[in-house]
Amino acid sequence: MSTDAIVLLKDDHKEVRKLFREFEKAGDKATVRKGQIVTRIIELLTIHTYLENEVMYPEVRKLLPDLEDDVLESYEEHHVADVLCLELHTMKPDDERFDAKTTVLIELVTHHMGEEEQDWFPKVRDGLGRKQLQDLGAAMLEKKQTAPTKPTQLKALKKALDSATA
Ligand SMILES: [Fe+2]
Ligand SMILES: [Fe+2]
Repeated sequence: MSTDAIVLLKDDHKEVRKLFREFEKAGDKATVRKGQIVTRIIELLTIHTYLENEVMYPEVRKLLPDLEDDVLESYEEHHVADVLCLELHTMKPDDERFDAKTTVLIELVTHHMGEEEQDWFPKVRDGLGRKQLQDLGAAMLEKKQTAPTKPTQLKALKKALDSATA
């Protein structure tokens, strides 16, 4: 099995997109089903974000300093997605803002994944060798074993929110 980091991350994106489509097709009355879909979306995004934030982005920033601005923008997009996931995690699916918040999350993450796939991954692949991408992927798979699955477990998010309310 390939452990190419970009292949692994694209596989995650595919799974996330599938759930986004399911949510969008579910219909107004499918409250319970939509709640389940969003729970799964939050779990997948929390793990995926952790692997990119902890392994992919810092390593790429170190190895390819030219891509630093892209990495910094990615951290910010992920941070906004984390906030939305945390809020959705605390909401009930019949809350009047639940669907709207999920829609904004879907728009944000779809935009971010598109940028990664069309612009960022090709630059990373050009800049790093096969071996480096395999090693990065292996490091991500290792890290996945202990990755958080709920936004309430994200220390950086908690720190940001605490300092904003201090
Ligand atoms: Fe990302
Ligand atoms: Fe990603």
